Amino acid sequence: MRMTMNISKRVRSAAWALGACAALFGPLTADAAQSSPDNTGDAALIAHGEYLARAGDCIACHSAPSGKPFAGGLKFDTPIGAIYSTNITPDRSTGIGSWTFAQFDRAVREGVRPNGDTLYPAMPYPSYARLSDDDMHALYAYFTHGVAPVAQNNRPVDIVWPLSMRWPLGIWRHLFAPNPQAFDAAHYSDPVLARGAYLVQGLGHCGACHTPRSVTMQELALDDLDGPSYLSGGAPIDGWVPSSLRGNPRTGVGAWSEADLVQFLKTGRTAHAAAFGGMTDVVQHSAQYMSDADVTAMARYIKTLPSSDPAEKPYVYDDTAAHALRTGDASAPGAAVYRDNCTSCHRSDGRGYTGVFPALGGNPVLQGKDATSVIHVLLSGSALQGTKTAPSTFTMPAFGWRLSDAEVADVTNFVRTSWGNTGSTVTASDVAKVRKTVPVAAPELPPGAIRSH
Ligand code: HEC
Ligand code: HEC
Ligand code: HEC
Repeated sequence: MRMTMNISKRVRSAAWALGACAALFGPLTADAAQSSPDNTGDAALIAHGEYLARAGDCIACHSAPSGKPFAGGLKFDTPIGAIYSTNITPDRSTGIGSWTFAQFDRAVREGVRPNGDTLYPAMPYPSYARLSDDDMHALYAYFTHGVAPVAQNNRPVDIVWPLSMRWPLGIWRHLFAPNPQAFDAAHYSDPVLARGAYLVQGLGHCGACHTPRSVTMQELALDDLDGPSYLSGGAPIDGWVPSSLRGNPRTGVGAWSEADLVQFLKTGRTAHAAAFGGMTDVVQHSAQYMSDADVTAMARYIKTLPSSDPAEKPYVYDDTAAHALRTGDASAPGAAVYRDNCTSCHRSDGRGYTGVFPALGGNPVLQGKDATSVIHVLLSGSALQGTKTAPSTFTMPAFGWRLSDAEVADVTNFVRTSWGNTGSTVTASDVAKVRKTVPVAAPELPPGAIRSH
């Protein structure tokens, strides 16, 4: 399940911080929802709305595991209790079927419910604030006429009063979530870049994961004009670290071409890396369905973001580790663990097999400051999911059930420092911390088999 832990921490801290400053501001008055005569069953508009809903990945958050699409109920855990996504199907009594366009618009772009309550920012309305009026009309047409109604009541938050009061969120929203402003294409030198910026900043809400947040939990930058923290890499979400999407040559996508980015978004795999964690959902539910023109526009826009660290040197392949492994020297810490468990897929030269098993040499995931993703993928394993244009699925086995914390630390450090990689190192106690928070299950044994470890 995506986002559980982190959103929660954000929500918790936001609620806490706002509780503290609430006394200064006093409660906000609830704004009355306006209504506008607007409705349409136009097939082309509904189809366009469906496309936009995919670009916005509404389904990933608004569907529970094995629940009906868009009926809500996905849990977002917080230390003060849980919140649940809501039913956004057109059922008139439990969903949004009786909402006017103005009410729907206000919830999506401003985070305000028809009754004046503010939504938790787990709903990425600070990003959706950039959507154009036309796109909002298309989304409304789709959610009122293109989605099957499902009668399913929203689950109330599992947060006890007084923390469950929503008015501090209203202050947060006034401070940090901009009012909808028409997206200004004039900032961008050509229409393709402007389209890419609009999609990345708005519907794609890439910054919700890839931009660092402040202590009050708002994203430090909502677009490139806001400064170099935009898309410079976020805190772990469910134990997966959203890496930098800026031009940093080692820790970001500086070494990736526009075509690499397009391929990654459409298939989750390139010569450099494979998608995992929350990014798997983004590729599966959203990016793979976007038109080539739109994915290309997003990639071109991302390629305009300069490196956030001018001192970061380009990656250069180094043959030392591969040579040692090939000549039978596994004396370096972690080298023997790597030789025995990893070479069959990632190879002794760390180059993997493009499109099948990701390269580890030069991979930004292995060179970022935070090694949580690497430890997590080793402990829990992961599956590279098939997409429309790359249908095969490949699995990275879980090693947590048979490698000790010290072995995982050693092999993590081996892959983060071999083949020219310059990642920082970790200790067995760093591994122990991650182990407490991620699933580490032994695979099922066939009948009659005995586990040898
Ligand atoms: C990252 C997760 C996430 C994504 C993506 C997301 N939502 Fe939400 N949304 C939520 C959560 C959680 C809530 C409930 C928040 C609360 O209870 O305060 C919500 C609430 C809403 C509401 C208010 C419903 C009500 O009954 O109050 C609407 C409308 C809505 N979302 C529409 C959308 C649309 C349309 C999209 C796609 C363009 C979308 N959401 C994408 C998480 C998400
Ligand atoms: C739900 C959180 C989430 C959202 C939203 C999200 N990402 Fe990611 N993304 C991740 C995580 C986690 C990783 C690291 C795992 C990986 O490399 O696949 C990642 C990795 C990536 C990578 C690979 C970078 C590398 O160095 O390996 C690219 C490219 C990327 N994201 C692009 C995007 C774009 C473009 C968007 C918006 C359309 C987006 N992401 C939205 C979580 C997210
Ligand atoms: C059976 C083949 C296989 C073996 C053995 C294997 N891996 Fe993987 N590995 C994969 C696949 C497939 C992925 C992509 C998973 C995904 O995208 O969700 C992956 C992903 C990774 C990643 C994340 C990089 C990225 O861009 O996705 C790291 C780091 C990694 N493996 C390290 C290791 C180490 C270290 C070992 C040995 C302890 C190992 N792997 C053993 C197949 C394997």
